[in-house]
Amino acid sequence: MCGIIGYRGDKDSKRIVIEGLKSLEYRGYDSWGIATVLNDRVAVFKKVGKIGGFSADQLKMEAGRIAIGHTRWATHGNVTEANAHPHVSCDGKIAVVHNGIIENYQELKAELKDHKFVSQTDTEIIPHLIEGYVREGYGFVEATKRALSRLEGRFAVVAVMAGYDGLIGARRGSPLVLGLGGGEREYFIASDIPAFLNHTRNVVFLEDNELVVLNKDYRIMNIKTGEDIKREPQHIDWDAAQAEKGDYPHFMIKEVLEQRDTVSRAIKQSDGEIMEVAKMLNDSFGSFFVACGTAGKVALAGTYLFSRIANKHVNFSVSSEFPNYTHFLTDKTLMIVVSQSGETADTLEAMDAARAKGVKIVGVVNVMGSTITRQADRFLLVKAGPEKCVASTKATTGQLAIVTLLAYACAGRLEEGRELLEDASAKINAILTEEYVANIRALAEKIKGWESMYIIGRGLNYPMALEAAIKVQEVSYIHAEGFAGGELKHGPIALISNGTPCIVLVANDETKPDILSNAVEVKARGGFIIGVAPKNNEVFDFWIPVPDVGNASPIVNIIPVQILAYHLAVLRGCNPDMPRNLAKSVTVK
Ligand code: AGP
Repeated sequence: MCGIIGYRGDKDSKRIVIEGLKSLEYRGYDSWGIATVLNDRVAVFKKVGKIGGFSADQLKMEAGRIAIGHTRWATHGNVTEANAHPHVSCDGKIAVVHNGIIENYQELKAELKDHKFVSQTDTEIIPHLIEGYVREGYGFVEATKRALSRLEGRFAVVAVMAGYDGLIGARRGSPLVLGLGGGEREYFIASDIPAFLNHTRNVVFLEDNELVVLNKDYRIMNIKTGEDIKREPQHIDWDAAQAEKGDYPHFMIKEVLEQRDTVSRAIKQSDGEIMEVAKMLNDSFGSFFVACGTAGKVALAGTYLFSRIANKHVNFSVSSEFPNYTHFLTDKTLMIVVSQSGETADTLEAMDAARAKGVKIVGVVNVMGSTITRQADRFLLVKAGPEKCVASTKATTGQLAIVTLLAYACAGRLEEGRELLEDASAKINAILTEEYVANIRALAEKIKGWESMYIIGRGLNYPMALEAAIKVQEVSYIHAEGFAGGELKHGPIALISNGTPCIVLVANDETKPDILSNAVEVKARGGFIIGVAPKNNEVFDFWIPVPDVGNASPIVNIIPVQILAYHLAVLRGCNPDMPRNLAKSVTVK
């Protein structure tokens, strides 16, 4: 959580940081702040709330060549200006922005008796620790290195000091990427590439326990040993426009509609690569799909797809629970982690637990260069482009496409899988018309006043019922719950009253008669039945047509629910891009 950016160069540093923060705001948005570096002091400005329409021209602070900024998702301490970053040392000359959690901050604070702390954050310990070492006579780089090597927990940190013509960045467990600018000795450093995508696509990813000094040159070193590390820049082929809203009112609807081609992009994996992962899966025993939240629903769908298409049993665990299964792991186990960001702390921890048992790991990830892409033994890129809305949409269907293709590859039917998914992609493209979206908006108008709704599915569409519930909950704040159709009669059906909306996800497969019977049961109790199905049925009070695409039904069935969730959010006055209490990359446990 939290977004960090730093800039050093000849351009307007304040403007670059403010613009960068706007593009990082999806990572956290309860407060923000900026520090500019002058010769004798560091100037700091902080504000509670979203950065929104705030422009650099409104900032009446002096600025030089260097500035850092932060957008916060609170962990330690309330949402106040004092707790917003950057945090500064007693003399106001050192400023730090941080993403992560410093686990030993209380012990360190107790040591720093002669320092004055003004916030409740764990972060504030960092500028004071650095200041302590500077007081002892160490230079800024050495002082920062010493301070950081005392920290326990996860961090991405950028530090600056008055009079020092450079930035220091470091990471352990939280992402940090360096951008090499066009101008001479121009550098960007940020939590994520879109923060500087308008300026450069030449990047260097920092690894855990690395520190980078950005001044005349960039120098990467190991935080503990100080040993120099050489790393060549990579060129990222993301298009800056992909990370902009363009004419759309929100990223969410832009990204939903981008699903016109995300499935066909996702399956553009080389046969060789897919077959190698398929071989790893076929050679494995007792393997696990592991992921969180929406990616977790894709992972759960993976178990159904593998069982159905490849006749192979794969286990599933949400990442945070995975460490409880480690006694089942052997060196024959394969772990498939699914993640949009590639930075989710729970998933990274699950990977650590698996690696300790000799388990091989395959990642299905959207963000190139993310920690999962670097730590997994192999990875398949989802290729959905930057996903900015907190609610995952296009990355989800891209992940589903890859997992479906893998199942076909394991069954030795790769070409059949490709054809199925190409066909699904073309059909998605055809249905995503203005009229289709307007029809779903009309439905949202009808049900927007309800405080609860239910979603049911069976087989491949049970995980999608769970995912549909997440989409509705996170953006519209309606209490939504997903169930396996067969489970309703075991309890939840008691919640149905006259008019309660119930979305029924139907696939044209063997589950169809039973899920329609479940819909009839709900209707008999007064439920308002919204059918997402290839064919209309008399039980539906409202029908949302979807193409009949066989085993790709989870992909096409979730899209209309994403559109519904979006319109419910907008009609209820919620900002779908930045739901309350949430952040895009969940980099804390
Ligand atoms: C998606 O709509 C959610 N905001 C969330 O559940 C997300 O899927 C989860 O945090 C996992 O993130 P990841 O895909 O980046 O690992």
